[in-house]
Amino acid sequence: MTYAVEVHEVHKRFGKVHALRGLSLNIERGITYGLLGPNGAGKTTLIRAIMGLLKVDSGQIKLLDQVMPNKPVMARVGYMTQSVALYEDLTVYQNVQFFATMAGLNNHTRQAIEEAIALVDLSARARSPVRELSGGMQRRCSLACALVHRPEVVMLDEPTVGVDPQLRVQFWDHFRRLNEQGITLIVSSHVMDEAERCTRLGFIRHGTLLAEGSAAELLARAGTSTLEEAFLHYAEQGPEA
Ligand SMILES: Nc1ncnc2c1ncn2[C@@H]1O[C@H](COP(=O)(O)OP(=O)(O)O)[C@@H](O)[C@H]1O
Ligand SMILES: [Mg+2]
Repeated sequence: MTYAVEVHEVHKRFGKVHALRGLSLNIERGITYGLLGPNGAGKTTLIRAIMGLLKVDSGQIKLLDQVMPNKPVMARVGYMTQSVALYEDLTVYQNVQFFATMAGLNNHTRQAIEEAIALVDLSARARSPVRELSGGMQRRCSLACALVHRPEVVMLDEPTVGVDPQLRVQFWDHFRRLNEQGITLIVSSHVMDEAERCTRLGFIRHGTLLAEGSAAELLARAGTSTLEEAFLHYAEQGPEA
C-alpha cells in the first residue's frame, strides 16, 4: 500500500490548548478522505501540520513519502485555506498566476492557468477583479489557485462552507474527476451530510481520531442510520474505538 499521507502519533499544543493529541492516520493515494468533526476538533491544525506549515511538538508526518516539513514536497501539494485568501484587487487570472508562480510553475504556465480557471468554470470572469465576484465565485477561484500547478495531493479546508447547493455539487464533481486522475484529496468538514461523498472518513474530536472507515462501515459498526448518530456513538466510546 502506498500512502499519500502518514500521520504518526502527532501532538501539537498552543499554550494550554492540546490541539492534536497523539493523532495517527494514513491516507491512501487517489482517494477523497474526509476529516469530519466539530469546530475546534483540530482539523485545520492537522491540515497545516500535514502541509508542513506548522511545526508539531512530537510525532511524525510524511507527505508523499517525505518527512514534513519539506519544501520541495510543497510544490506537489495544493492547499485551499478555510477562509478566502485571494488578492481582491487582482483579477481571477492574476490570482491564479500568482499561485502558479509561488509553486514554481514556469513551463506552459499560461495554459495551466487557463485550464485551472476553466475547470472551475470561471473563464468568462478571468479578467474580473476578485472583489467583483460573488462569494461562490471566489471559492471557485480559490480552488483554481489550489489546482493550477497540478498537485498530486490537494488539501481543502471546509471548501463547501458558505457555498450554495448547486456549486457544492459542482465541487464534488470536480473532486471525483481529480480522483480519477490519481490525485488524492483531503477535505475537512463539520457538515456530516457531505461525508458520504468521501471514499473514507476520519471522525476527529478533541485532537484525536475517534473512528475511521467508509461511511457504510462507520454506520454498520455504530449500528446507526445517520453519520451524526454514528459520530455521537464513537464520541461516547472515546478515542480510536
Ligand atoms: N494559532 C493558534 N493559536 C492558539 N490556539 C489555536 C491556534 N490554532 C488553533 N488553535 C486551537 O486549537 C484547537 C483546534 O483548532 P482548529 O484546528 O482550528 O480546529 P477545527 O479546524 O477543527 O475547527 C482549538 O481549540 C483552537 O482554538
Ligand atoms: Mg478549521
